[in-house]
Amino acid sequence: MSEFEKLRDEIIACKKCSLYETRTLPVIGQGSHKAKIVFCGEAPGASEDKTGRPFCGAAGKILDELLESASIKREQVYICNILKCRPPSNRNPKTEEIEICTPYLEKQIEIIKPKVICTLGNYSTGFIMERYGLADKIQGISKIHGQVFETEQDFVIIPLYHPAVATYNRNMIEELKKDFQLLKKYV
Ligand code: URA
Repeated sequence: MSEFEKLRDEIIACKKCSLYETRTLPVIGQGSHKAKIVFCGEAPGASEDKTGRPFCGAAGKILDELLESASIKREQVYICNILKCRPPSNRNPKTEEIEICTPYLEKQIEIIKPKVICTLGNYSTGFIMERYGLADKIQGISKIHGQVFETEQDFVIIPLYHPAVATYNRNMIEELKKDFQLLKKYV
């Protein structure tokens, strides 16, 4: 059994926090296990919870549009979330849920060994930057989106707006597309 298969089985069986009681399917992640770019969102929403696939609802449509604008295919990247199970009614993740769940994300990153981690939105950016030694650089996403942060690991971190912002405000799409152009050189 591969390391990824072991991890998948562990996540499916996970009862470490109460979210397993209310979720339908865990959303482990999707894409290439050799991806150079990992996208990390916040937590599954209703569509993801039903299908087990990350970013397959309204925000996912925007993500697809952004990837296409940079000529990147979903199959070339890996897409996952901070939390693997949907919080009821899409409430914000709790600190203890993040603490309990993120060793799975860390393991995914360890196996994939990406060159870039793109954090989608404030939660993901806050967690990943803190975890990988950039706590002192954390600011709101509107300040730091599109910046490239070196880490002591073999990857850089690029904070990005969460694609859902363009579902609330379509005018944001051009700004999001501009940030995605940065990613072309990493694929
Ligand atoms: N929003 C996220 O942060 N992740 C998903 O998988 C879907 C929507």
